[in-house]
Amino acid sequence: MKVPFLDLKTQYQMIKSEVEPAVMNILEECSFIGGKYVTDFEKSMEAYLNVKHVAGCSNGTDALVLGLKACNIKPGDEVITTPFTFFATAEAIASVGAIPVFVDVKQSDYNIDPDKIEEAVTEKTKAIMPVHIFGAPCDMDRINTIAKKYNLKVIEDDAQAIGSEYKGKKAGTLGDIGCFSFYPTKNLGGAGDGGMVTTNSDELDTIVRAYKEHGAAQIGAEALTLLGGKTEEISTNEKVTELYNPFKYYNYLIGYNSRLDAIQAAVLSVKLKYLDKYNNRRSQIAAMYFEGLTSKLRKPEYSNEVKPCWHQFVVRSDYKGKLCEYLSEHGVGNGTFYPVPLHKQKAFNALNCKNPGASLPVAEEIASQTVCLPIFPEMTDSQVQYVIETVNKFYEACI
Ligand SMILES: Cc1ncc(COP(=O)(O)O)c(C=O)c1O
Repeated sequence: MKVPFLDLKTQYQMIKSEVEPAVMNILEECSFIGGKYVTDFEKSMEAYLNVKHVAGCSNGTDALVLGLKACNIKPGDEVITTPFTFFATAEAIASVGAIPVFVDVKQSDYNIDPDKIEEAVTEKTKAIMPVHIFGAPCDMDRINTIAKKYNLKVIEDDAQAIGSEYKGKKAGTLGDIGCFSFYPTKNLGGAGDGGMVTTNSDELDTIVRAYKEHGAAQIGAEALTLLGGKTEEISTNEKVTELYNPFKYYNYLIGYNSRLDAIQAAVLSVKLKYLDKYNNRRSQIAAMYFEGLTSKLRKPEYSNEVKPCWHQFVVRSDYKGKLCEYLSEHGVGNGTFYPVPLHKQKAFNALNCKNPGASLPVAEEIASQTVCLPIFPEMTDSQVQYVIETVNKFYEACI
């Protein structure tokens, strides 16, 4: 039997009859940028997450950059985050000129360890960026308490956590601002790149929306004021008429071109209807893995307060290389996220990072052991059983 790591083709076949007319409408209408499809998606997502504002953008990395800019993170500011994540988390921090400060993670759920955050806080610290790794929410009450104590913003990296919950609240509503990715392999994946920023704050939403479209027009002026710019700088002497709005032609901030394409919004609107069904199936598969997989490898331990969306099912093995080889030889797709923790990344050695090369022993241990097993909504029970049997056979035959 062959079990792929992920099967996007089967999923597409199941929703093709809804996706294709939606995309064809946009092609016929030539309404590629902004408009109804983007607004409809944002509104549906606001309802799904129970959040006041959703702003679509080009990808998850941009969502993080927009979140940092909205929180007014400036060059030289320090942002505390985890070393056990995808590169983009700290890349976004560095790309606004701020300094990523890596804090070690927990053995249980691989997320940032709140016990170690306070000792990393300095007078330069302006924000914490928790990452709900593999779709399991961080210990947000502890993180928010520390943030409040030191007056820090909390910018969630929710790229892997769409639909996950912490104490009954959805990821993306747990800090000041949430940043999501719709990369095709995510639980809610587009037909290309996409992302969104979520917040309950009118002010942060205004700034995100301004930055994502070149800091232009009235919203750019409003954002500049919110960021502490002088109001006289943004007034315009030119007269606003029905035909001519001078605001429209002024840019008030150096922003980005980071819009969510209408085609992506249309595809995502279709898939959003199935997201809970997809995540429930992932959760069933995880339950089968917990029950069937040998106790010789270490499985994730999540608190009862979290409901993960099971973006990945990640086990830990002292025989990582051999296990991956064995799985591949026996037709089981697998991954090894993330073999290089970010404090060991070459790109951060050259940058003004707080602790490149330092020892963060838990992240390093986990990075050397993680093996990701296939988990996707279209996976059949017999495919799950085959993965379990193959892993268990490896432990019986090879160890
Ligand atoms: C944890 C994390 N942060 C950020 C990103 C960046 O998202 P994107 O690839 O959409 O830019 C990803 C996904 O790829 C991710 O997994």
